Amino acid sequence: MPTFLIQGAGRGLGLALCQAVLETESSIRVIATARDPDRSDGLAELQKRWGSPHLEHVALDITSQRSVEHARRIVGDMCDQLDVVITCAGLLHDEQRGIWPEKKLGDIKADNLAQSFAVNAIGPALMIRYFHDLLPKSERGVIASLSARVGSISDNGLGGWYAYRASKAAQNQITQTASIELRRRSKGHHICVGLHPGTVDTGLSEPFQNHVPPTQLQAPATAAKHLLSVIDNLTPDDTGRVFDWAGKPIEP
Ligand SMILES: NC(=O)c1ccc[n+]([C@@H]2O[C@H](COP(=O)([O-])OP(=O)(O)OC[C@H]3O[C@@H](n4cnc5c(N)ncnc54)[C@H](OP(=O)(O)O)[C@@H]3O)[C@@H](O)[C@H]2O)c1
Repeated sequence: MPTFLIQGAGRGLGLALCQAVLETESSIRVIATARDPDRSDGLAELQKRWGSPHLEHVALDITSQRSVEHARRIVGDMCDQLDVVITCAGLLHDEQRGIWPEKKLGDIKADNLAQSFAVNAIGPALMIRYFHDLLPKSERGVIASLSARVGSISDNGLGGWYAYRASKAAQNQITQTASIELRRRSKGHHICVGLHPGTVDTGLSEPFQNHVPPTQLQAPATAAKHLLSVIDNLTPDDTGRVFDWAGKPIEP
């Protein structure tokens, strides 16, 4: 049974990806992680429709190495291998913690930068560190993390959003660096990429949607289908790169 691990599956794009994967074929299995899976109404709905063994969940906090390591042990007991691993965690704003994208240098706060790096860059690094060895030994395996176009240094013509841009750029560097090691170890079977989903109607983009033309704002279900199609079409030569939802590479 093809098995996906989807991190950050409690809401937003991660939840939409779970549903899209489960809808692709009847024999598929998804292991969904969230910080507190029991508190996700969306996962509970999916659980009612699919249930075990097609959908199971594991708690994982991407900002804690101990939590990621613990989740890896549980997932290793649940399955022999993972065909696709998708890390979805992302932090752009968190009003409760006073995190808001910076407009100017004077808005930079060390704690906010650190928190953004913890979720957006260190988290995906930990996911690769702990889960790459569950990819199939001698067949195609994909380990992807959701990135963002604003992480591209060459594409940055607007400025602002220091923490989000810098942490996503760091995430992309980790993807490229890990891809080199994984290609060597797996003899080309393992593909490690970043994926830009486009602008998608989730809590992350919600405060910024006023500036987005309605035709450019995708529903999570639509974005999830696009991303799965990009993953399906990846070849070993694509490893290390970042692709948008239409499959076009984004320059670093
Ligand atoms: N939406 C967009 O327009 C857009 C555009 C470009 C890129 N992206 C990227 O796409 C990805 C998904 O974003 P989204 O739109 O689905 O955002 P969202 O609805 O705000 O969801 C954020 C996700 O990040 C997870 N997360 C945050 N902190 C975490 C932690 N410490 N440990 C584990 N998980 C944590 C959340 O899990 P909990 O439920 O446990 O909080 C949730 O699943 C992000 O990487 C984002 O940067 C989104």
